[in-house]
Amino acid sequence: MYAGALENEFAREVRAGLTRSGQKTLPCRYLYDDVGSALFEAITFLPEYGLTRADARIIQKNARAIVGCLPPNVLVAELGSGSGTKTRALLEALRRRQVVVYYPIDVSGAALAKCARELGPVGAVLPIESTYVRGLTDVAERRAPGQTLLVLFLGSTIGNFESEAAVDFLYALRLCLRPGDALLLGTDLVKPAEQLAAAYDDPAGVTAAFNLNLLARINRELDADFDLRQFEHVARWDKQAQRVEMHLRSRIYQIANVRSADLLVDFVPNETICTETCQKFRPEQPREMARQAGFRLAAQWLDAEWPFAENLLVAV
Ligand code: AVJ
Repeated sequence: MYAGALENEFAREVRAGLTRSGQKTLPCRYLYDDVGSALFEAITFLPEYGLTRADARIIQKNARAIVGCLPPNVLVAELGSGSGTKTRALLEALRRRQVVVYYPIDVSGAALAKCARELGPVGAVLPIESTYVRGLTDVAERRAPGQTLLVLFLGSTIGNFESEAAVDFLYALRLCLRPGDALLLGTDLVKPAEQLAAAYDDPAGVTAAFNLNLLARINRELDADFDLRQFEHVARWDKQAQRVEMHLRSRIYQIANVRSADLLVDFVPNETICTETCQKFRPEQPREMARQAGFRLAAQWLDAEWPFAENLLVAV
């Protein structure tokens, strides 16, 4: 057996992603350590990255309409610890008609604590430190008869799944729910290539820093020696697949040593590591995804400024 280090999930996944034949990859969820989360938050303020503002605008404008689609006595669960404007607007609309109980589900205790501070004044915030499906199972078990669950999955995080995996994931959520429960799903829509290029490779270099931080994190946590200056951020729009891919491209031939993963890995010039895929949707796609996963699309709201759809799915 290997030493304790390889039992570490991060080390195992880095090793698996960088030793695959063909395209090297790293799982995108590791982009979000403390530094990465702060850099992502900075991205959401960039003029070129309209996604988060569009999501927030739709919810703010339509919070009462969204709540109006739901039966009385709703419990809210969110996949990811929501904060600020998006979740607050919804909870405030809900508070006009009932007591608000809100379960943020996140693997980060720090993120949950921040969320509880920010949203605590609006209702009872009951944080669940867990992965999404496990956390939602817990919430579903806790509810009383007659209560309807509203699950929030905002920010187009669903776009990080490959198409089939996205439907599988929605179906896994559906298995935690009862008919009549709802899922509010944010989906970023297909838009012109130039707009996507700027959103995922901004001129100030914030997205590049966000991407490169993944290698910095591997250096910090897995005792590795990636030379960040010898990798370059690349964002590619694959029009056929309707997705943006983020890569890190090696400028030269180089070898990196990831000691805690017991890994020596080499890169030829221009070889890339794929670090994230961001699926973009046509407005009619959420209805089909919903159907395949055991939901129906009850309503959809669009943003006029930045193509984005907020979809209300109801479990059938
Ligand atoms: C948080 C996954 C929705 O895909 O737009 C932003 C992440 N990556 N810039 C996205 C991200 C580069 C973001 N999601």
